[in-house]
Amino acid sequence: MLVLGMMSGTSADGIDVALARISGAPPNLNAKLLGHTSTKFPDALRKEILRVAEQHPISAGALSQLNFRLGGLFADATLAACRRFRVSPKRISLIGSHGQTIFHQGKPAPYFGAPTPSTLQIGEPSVIAARTGIPTVGDFRPADMALGGQGAPLVPYVDYLLYRHAKLGRVSLNLGGIANITVLPRAAKPQQVFAFDTGPANMLIDALVAHFTRGRQRFDKNAQLAAQGRSNPALLDELMRDPYLKLAPPKSTGREYYGHAYVKKILTLGLRYRATPNDLIRAATIFTTLSIVEALNRFVLRKTKINQLIVSGGGAHNPLILAQLSAALPGIEVVPSSRLGVPEDAKEAFAFALLAYETFHQRPANLPSATGARGPAILGKISYAPPR
Ligand SMILES: Nc1ncnc2c1ncn2[C@@H]1O[C@H](COP(=O)(O)OP(=O)(O)O)[C@@H](O)[C@H]1O
Ligand SMILES: [Mg+2]
Repeated sequence: MLVLGMMSGTSADGIDVALARISGAPPNLNAKLLGHTSTKFPDALRKEILRVAEQHPISAGALSQLNFRLGGLFADATLAACRRFRVSPKRISLIGSHGQTIFHQGKPAPYFGAPTPSTLQIGEPSVIAARTGIPTVGDFRPADMALGGQGAPLVPYVDYLLYRHAKLGRVSLNLGGIANITVLPRAAKPQQVFAFDTGPANMLIDALVAHFTRGRQRFDKNAQLAAQGRSNPALLDELMRDPYLKLAPPKSTGREYYGHAYVKKILTLGLRYRATPNDLIRAATIFTTLSIVEALNRFVLRKTKINQLIVSGGGAHNPLILAQLSAALPGIEVVPSSRLGVPEDAKEAFAFALLAYETFHQRPANLPSATGARGPAILGKISYAPPR
């Protein structure tokens, strides 16, 4: 089957699209990435997504509009990708669209008298299916949550299929807005896989860069700004006191925590420690790296031998993050995911192509050991294309 996966993460920088050829069934599932591309969100719309994702008020009507509008953009991204890959949409059997997360409450929280977990990924799959003529799986997370899971992370199932190794202990690290890891002990069984969000990846760096450049730059390309800053150990110590880092996994986080208020806190710290803009960008970059190292030291390396750290996501292009990870983790080889066949920028989109393929075949694709669900769940909802 040709399956197209689409992802827009917490960075809301745009839509990543991956085209995969998939056959077989686990444990003998074969998946090959055929191509990947990405499209940007229009600036004003991106601002609105970030605003909504930070839980600023939105009317039910505007939210409904945003859901359909994003569905249209995901459909556009599919059609643009097909042109680029020179593949007719008719040849594509299935789309897996993660959607844009605008709210995620993985653990039950009090709500009108009953503890309630919930999650919302938008970008209406029916619009995608109708506009592309391709059946589309969306809404992957709720099925896991309905079984008591946190609905996240879901990529560990794919990490398990792709990266489990008979002789090597591996950690798969994705550096999106948030950093998350999947731990795959040597010759792991599914129940031995665990995964959690370690803290921020690019989210704080991006926000500081946008702040200091007044929106002219969205991110610190190749760590050029951080490279011009000086390290400030006292400021870094202060950042490392973040209570999230000490929380025992399973745990997940997002823009609700590492959003605007958190950035304001860093800016205040910057004033107190007389840090320049580039000093602060550097501090945020090193904080990102050290929070990952801390998570590994505290919760992984004590019980599991790890040989390789496989890195993906946009942050895998940040040379400062990669150099610091290598330096802080002696004995662990830092491997970009492209070396194992999946380009850094395509990993998550590719994962959702695989998850959609599993859903289409009515197979469960959550890992209860990673999400905390009571059992296996078949993920997502299928929107069919209109009959041809
Ligand atoms: N060349 C680069 N140098 C530094 N950072 C980069 C580079 N390319 C991408 N990034 C970072 O990666 C982020 C996007 O990563 P992505 O994996 O798409 O995250 P998400 O899944 O949250 O959308 C950008 O916002 C930027 O911070
Ligand atoms: Mg992205």
